Amino acid sequence: MQLKVLALPGDGIGVEVTAEGLRVLRHVAAKFKHDLVLSEGLLGGIAIHKTGTPFPAETERLALEADATVMGAFGLPEFDNAPPDKRPERGLLGIRKSLGVFANLRPVKAYDALIESSPLKNHLLTGVDMIIVRELTGGLYYGTPRGITGAGDEERGTNTMTYTRAEIARITRMAFRLAANRKKKVTSVDKSNVLETSQLWRKVVEEIAPEFPDVKLEHLLVDNCAMQLVLKPAQFDVVLMENMFGDILSDEGSVITGSIGMLPSASIGGQKPSGAWVGLYEPVHGSAPDIAGQGIANPLGAIGSIAAMLEYSFGLLEEAAAVNAAMEAVLNSGNVTRDLKGTATTVQVGQAVCEAIG
Ligand code: NAD
Ligand code: IPM
Ligand code: MN
Repeated sequence: MQLKVLALPGDGIGVEVTAEGLRVLRHVAAKFKHDLVLSEGLLGGIAIHKTGTPFPAETERLALEADATVMGAFGLPEFDNAPPDKRPERGLLGIRKSLGVFANLRPVKAYDALIESSPLKNHLLTGVDMIIVRELTGGLYYGTPRGITGAGDEERGTNTMTYTRAEIARITRMAFRLAANRKKKVTSVDKSNVLETSQLWRKVVEEIAPEFPDVKLEHLLVDNCAMQLVLKPAQFDVVLMENMFGDILSDEGSVITGSIGMLPSASIGGQKPSGAWVGLYEPVHGSAPDIAGQGIANPLGAIGSIAAMLEYSFGLLEEAAAVNAAMEAVLNSGNVTRDLKGTATTVQVGQAVCEAIG
């Protein structure tokens, strides 16, 4: 089949890990005889440098034209003190909103070969296999009013956390549908003891749950969830939460796998004007300025995101399984990067995954 893919490598190690994701994608396309039509665009810091804006209109056009978009990471230290709307990260928020990808799936799985890489005790990791379902186009990240106003002691920063019933309902159904095909448990995370948005969240989740009678629902307050994730991570199946809670808890979840460099993600749910589904695929980690340019970033989160794209955007289950199996074989071989206590370079890991695919 034809695979029309847009790549937005971005900044820092985003460029390095995306190159390996695309190496694997080209390899899979050749092996399984797909017609890969690859284009590349600008988003983030590099887009600010080249066009003056983090999310150029041309990038939006290319993303709407593609069947799927793969991304690296966005953010450069030189913009650290810039206001939010002049930062590379704004490009990422812009493309997520523009494509309407409201569901961000972040699987967290303990691999046998990596048990020693995690700081958690081995016995806690047995059986850990969860998906964090993060609402991606609402909440504090997009709510208005926002901004900094006033001066002196009265200078005030404002952000608004807001959710509508419809926004909560669609992400809840996504979480339950996923759980129905897995371990049949949804843990909905909120702060309903304090926040009105969370009270509505809990109410809507409760109302939708009976549509999925074979899936068990439980609620957890977000502070307790942060603790349970490291105390007893194997209890979770699908963990549903709003945007910022999901951002924070997914980084915590990465500790289970041994490195944030391991985590892939799929952002789905958006539809083009034509009605076609849209998918955005990106590793969970950032541009890692501390190791950028050294060729030592772990590309497996980016490569796992390619597997997710093959599965969710193209329905190519055999191809996705081949990539996932090859990643596992590479992990078992010990040919891994420094974050996983190995000595391989980013490129060597990408090449090893291709060799393991065969
Ligand atoms: P980060 O994820 O970039 O790095 C956190 C730590 O994890 C660093 O020590 C880094 O070296 C390490 N790390 C991250 N990815 C790795 C990989 N693939 N292999 C090995 N080690 C890896 O988070 P940060 O340092 O807080 O943020 C840096 C910049 O990235 C900021 O500008 C931030 O806004 C941006 N950011 C972007 C994204 C994204 O584009 N999706 C996500 C998170 C942060
Ligand atoms: C992530 C990142 C982004 C987010 C930032 C860079 C905007 O941390 O994808 O986890 O908070 O969504
Ligand atoms: Mn994050």
